[in-house]
Amino acid sequence: MMPKKIMAPAALLKEFALTKREMRRIIKDFHGEMERGLCEKPSSLKMLPTYVDRPTGNERGAYIALDLGGTNFRVLTLELKGKGRIAGLKVMKFAIPKKIMTGEGKELFLFLARSIKKFLLADRARLDKAIDLGFTFSFPIKQRSVASGDLVVWTKGFEAKGVVGMDVVGLLKEALMREGLSGIRVSALANDTVGTLMARAYSDPSCDVGVIIGTGTNACYTESLEKIKKLQDLAGRSGHMIINIEWGNFNKLKATRYDRLLDEATDNPGCQILEKMVSGMYLGEVARLVLADLAKRSILPCGSKFLAAFRKPMSLKSEYVSMIESDRSSGLSKMDALLNSLGVSGSSAEERMLIKSACGIVSTRAAGISASAMAAVVTKIDPAVSKKHTIAIDGSVYEKHPGFSAKIKNALKEILGRKASRIRIVLSKDGSGKGAAIIAAVAAQKRGRPDA
Ligand code: BGC
Repeated sequence: MMPKKIMAPAALLKEFALTKREMRRIIKDFHGEMERGLCEKPSSLKMLPTYVDRPTGNERGAYIALDLGGTNFRVLTLELKGKGRIAGLKVMKFAIPKKIMTGEGKELFLFLARSIKKFLLADRARLDKAIDLGFTFSFPIKQRSVASGDLVVWTKGFEAKGVVGMDVVGLLKEALMREGLSGIRVSALANDTVGTLMARAYSDPSCDVGVIIGTGTNACYTESLEKIKKLQDLAGRSGHMIINIEWGNFNKLKATRYDRLLDEATDNPGCQILEKMVSGMYLGEVARLVLADLAKRSILPCGSKFLAAFRKPMSLKSEYVSMIESDRSSGLSKMDALLNSLGVSGSSAEERMLIKSACGIVSTRAAGISASAMAAVVTKIDPAVSKKHTIAIDGSVYEKHPGFSAKIKNALKEILGRKASRIRIVLSKDGSGKGAAIIAAVAAQKRGRPDA
């Protein structure tokens, strides 16, 4: 039986492998989609203008920032001191109940306003205190200015009704008024990738790309105004603007049968194809579908137990995949304990090796796709990679998945050769919230606020 078991990952490996040629093709297609998106031609990359450029590092003042995009909502206050320094950071986290994520949109925004109120009360701050607010909203938004934007579509399991097509800043302002928080001025709206870029760029001028690989995935970068053809009123202007790529929706990728099964079962089939191969919301599900297939084909002898324990879609969480891949114990005993606790008892060490290698195959592809997309973005800014670039990155998969960051680095080297050494990838932990405050400061400065 053993040789058969060993063969299975080899077949899988082939299905999931990304050759150098394939990575190069991804980059070429990515560039094509980026160009089309910038011209408002049909493209899987939305290329959303953000109406903000990088900070100078000299922005100053006290700000409040909100960070909404996953299962937790965060409220922050901080002070920008100039010269890239941030002081007095205070943060409070609020878990968003499922019924709020999927209920009425108005209730979601009231939940945000009430959480801000709790934060201010705990901080003994006056509720009518005049303060600028930056709002990180980690979903595709079509912005019309730095402080307004309509939700294009929900992602990552959010479904709150009556929000798609609406200005989320308007909805937030209404909720703030209802809660009596009249002094708060919502001066900036930003995607989390933009916040992440801004937080790093405040003290590092070489930072020109922001990436998130967490529950969802996406990136933003700085683009020359003259290349953003869809903003006709900018014609002839020089300067830069950050573009939110919304790369999770990139769809020119080779899909396996497991990807197709996963996509068909989601509530947004055909959308967020890259996200469904890379992000933490889906990695576990791809692995579950692969392992269920091995189980059904009797390649995984503990298969019937596996199928019973993981019969429900999304039941194999990405965290489990991380735990499985990080196990270096003899006989993979840690994984054995995990499987036992999940109802899969009596697996052999060989079976556990097979499970571990199948998980590794899925996450290696995710890292390869991420690296190809990063290389595409950097070479869009600087085709010869003649300058140094810093990519600010955040997200649970990048930060916590064993070996993920190293696999990205290796794939970048494979794609770009020695030029890869000019690209620095830096973890910008919790940058998205801080970045929102910095964007609020940039916006305040534009308005001519003296202390900003
Ligand atoms: C959203 C992006 C976001 C990313 C990371 C995706 O699902 O569409 O706007 O930046 O998740 O949070």
